[in-house]
Amino acid sequence: MKLVKTIKEVRDIIKQWKADGQTIGLVPTMGYLHEGHTSLIDESVKNNNKTVVSVFVNPIQFAPTEDLESYPRDIDHDSALCRDHGADLIFNPDPSEMYKDGFSTYVDMSVLTEELCGLSRPIHFRGVCTVVTKLFNIVTPDNAYFGEKDAQQLAVIKHMVRDLNMDIKVVGCPIVRETDGLAKSSRNTYLSSEERQAALILSKTLKLGKELISNGERNTGAIINAMTTNIETEPLAKIDYVKIVDSETMQPVNKIDRPVLCAMAVYIGKTRLIDNFSFKEA
Ligand code: PAF
Repeated sequence: MKLVKTIKEVRDIIKQWKADGQTIGLVPTMGYLHEGHTSLIDESVKNNNKTVVSVFVNPIQFAPTEDLESYPRDIDHDSALCRDHGADLIFNPDPSEMYKDGFSTYVDMSVLTEELCGLSRPIHFRGVCTVVTKLFNIVTPDNAYFGEKDAQQLAVIKHMVRDLNMDIKVVGCPIVRETDGLAKSSRNTYLSSEERQAALILSKTLKLGKELISNGERNTGAIINAMTTNIETEPLAKIDYVKIVDSETMQPVNKIDRPVLCAMAVYIGKTRLIDNFSFKEA
């Protein structure tokens, strides 16, 4: 396995692979890899001849008030995990390699980015769409792998690929959880032990939402109210949003009469965590 820092090095390797008729899977990440990421790498390794993992903390998807500087980074640990899971190449560019002086072209999207995380993080999806487009242009993968924990991001990228006729299959992979239910996230490292315990309110509340739906409740207002009340029992939790939206358009629905995403973002202390589940009538 090789680690490269420049776009030219990636392109030279990809050119050779393509000449040899190899299929390519891309796993875009911001590093500090955990089992959520390695499940994406495993899926790519299983279904492609070559797997590229990008490790890049993308500055343009963070607002000035967010955690760009403190975002955890450990490229040695990431390289070891990538090697153990059979990846072939890590692309770990510096910000100046991705964003040359005078960079001024962005990929933006309306509608799907207007609710959920897009509402609380207004520039976030413009940054994600732009960097993912650049990574797609650099790596030119056949398949690209994203986690369902970032369900809105996955829907946005699928939609972008469709809108812009990108010849890439976007594959969503299931959320990986700790044994007690907390969704794996690089940001979990910010939590103190007391906050780590409090963070279980997210998965517990999703379980409550699922139970209400399986007991026949279809009024999203009633479900959201019950979930909100449950989160409010945890003193360290502060709700950013709890919403039920159409799975494709990411627009809120009043009634569950189509496939939906039930998603939440909750601050535990200063750490903003997200989690979700999807529901589709059997
Ligand atoms: O999900 C992430 O880690 C990032 O948003 C992504 C897709 C790698 C783009 O920077």
